[in-house]
Amino acid sequence: MTTIVRSREMIRAHYEKVFGSKVPEYENLSGALSEKYFDLKSSIPRSRVLDLGYGNGKYTIDALRSGYNVDAVDLVDKSIFKSSVPKELLPNLNLIECDLSDFQFYDGHDITLCIDVLHFLPKSIARRLIKDVEKSTNKGGGTLFRVFSNIERKTKEGATLKFEDEAEFKTEELISFLYNTFQKWGDIRFTISKYSEHDQVKKHTYFRSDVLEFVAVNR
Ligand SMILES: C[S@@+](CC[C@H](N)C(=O)[O-])C[C@H]1O[C@@H](n2cnc3c(N)ncnc32)[C@H](O)[C@@H]1O
Repeated sequence: MTTIVRSREMIRAHYEKVFGSKVPEYENLSGALSEKYFDLKSSIPRSRVLDLGYGNGKYTIDALRSGYNVDAVDLVDKSIFKSSVPKELLPNLNLIECDLSDFQFYDGHDITLCIDVLHFLPKSIARRLIKDVEKSTNKGGGTLFRVFSNIERKTKEGATLKFEDEAEFKTEELISFLYNTFQKWGDIRFTISKYSEHDQVKKHTYFRSDVLEFVAVNR
């Protein structure tokens, strides 16, 4: 069975095209925000959000509109998202163009979001990032991770598709790592569901996985 491996550079180029509206989007990137995000926001009336892998910025924009300051990090050219942000929100936005493998955490965030991005990273980096979120989120603050695990990705020709050095998390190991890292926070909730994506033209299911939504509040 053939395996095709996509590099980090290819991931960046793909998302720059998608966010620049140059290719059709099958990933539901502009779909509804997670209910767990709204729960988290309502229980943490503070001031600063860190959005890791902000993508087309739907969480960042919502947080800015809700009055938060936002530090938003992504691999892609930041001018693509910046040009779509309403001018009045820009003063409260700090856009950071950076590979999360190189991102240096700094304290002071009340909500840290890591949504649909961890699966791209090498396992050692993803684990370091989870630990850094635990250390750098303010007391009284919280975090939401949404992570794909047990991933099966196929091209329409049937080849297996992988990203360079991707974590390939198994669902159980991911839960156990998150749980162990955040257990001292005292308030942890998670759900697991099934997820799939389809090419709307060729009707081919190219992505299947579990999706873990993990929320912790640092009481
Ligand atoms: C599926 S999108 C999710 C975007 C957003 N969090 C959301 O929920 O709409 C994945 C994002 O992760 C970013 N990404 C992938 N690998 C990355 C890396 N190594 N460092 C930083 N960002 C990365 C991509 O550029 C893309 O914007």
